[in-house]
Amino acid sequence: MQNVIIDKKRIWVKAVYDKNPDFDENVDKKMDGFYRSWDARRSKLAAAMLKGVEPKIDKGANILYLGASHGYTCSYVSDIIGKSGLIYAIDFAPRVVRDLWFLCEKRKNMIPIMGDASQPQTYFHRVGLCDFIFQDVAQKNQVDIFLKNLDMFVKPNGLGMLAIKSRSIDISRKPQAVFNECRNVIESKTKLIDYKLLSPYEKDHCIFYVQKTQ
Ligand SMILES: C[S@@+](CC[C@H](N)C(=O)[O-])C[C@H]1O[C@@H](n2cnc3c(N)ncnc32)[C@H](O)[C@@H]1O
Repeated sequence: MQNVIIDKKRIWVKAVYDKNPDFDENVDKKMDGFYRSWDARRSKLAAAMLKGVEPKIDKGANILYLGASHGYTCSYVSDIIGKSGLIYAIDFAPRVVRDLWFLCEKRKNMIPIMGDASQPQTYFHRVGLCDFIFQDVAQKNQVDIFLKNLDMFVKPNGLGMLAIKSRSIDISRKPQAVFNECRNVIESKTKLIDYKLLSPYEKDHCIFYVQKTQ
């Protein structure tokens, strides 16, 4: 992936916007610029990559990011896609969208949107067609939310990653049983490229990496 170095168990992303850190992170000067360290315990996308998932996120890609929160993971995706790409960063919590707003003032390839991912029709008019969707929302109907947004906003054969938190779906069941059930639904609607548990970075979480089939 462009701008990314995976060095043993650490990920570094080349700072495209600014070498001054946005978050609590180390910055390392290498031959071709400044690289930001990406903490897999704070980012399910980084955790998935350290577990061997190889998402294809290209320079210039359009990304729909559901559950952007304060923008930690979004800020790395922003550097990966570079200034010719665009992230639609969605969250429904006003307090985090405020932080996201300030981050987007600096990172011009990010658009903050306050919206409920389970109601994609409410932000339909603000989001363009996307190459990639990433979702990290701890909701009971996580799979349904993902499939609705994949259907509405992602190009045919586009890609998506869905982080699942089993306890948000059903706290009383074994995580693996919840993951298996999610997998059956996902495989019936998309082409599954990869699936990984996110331990030890995240407990009781897994990630699905899929391709849209229609
Ligand atoms: C675990 S945090 C995301 C962290 C973020 N992905 C990162 O790595 O920097 C989950 C976020 O999802 C948001 N969220 C949960 N349900 C949502 C929904 N239905 N629509 C939009 N955002 C939602 C929460 O407000 C929270 O900020």
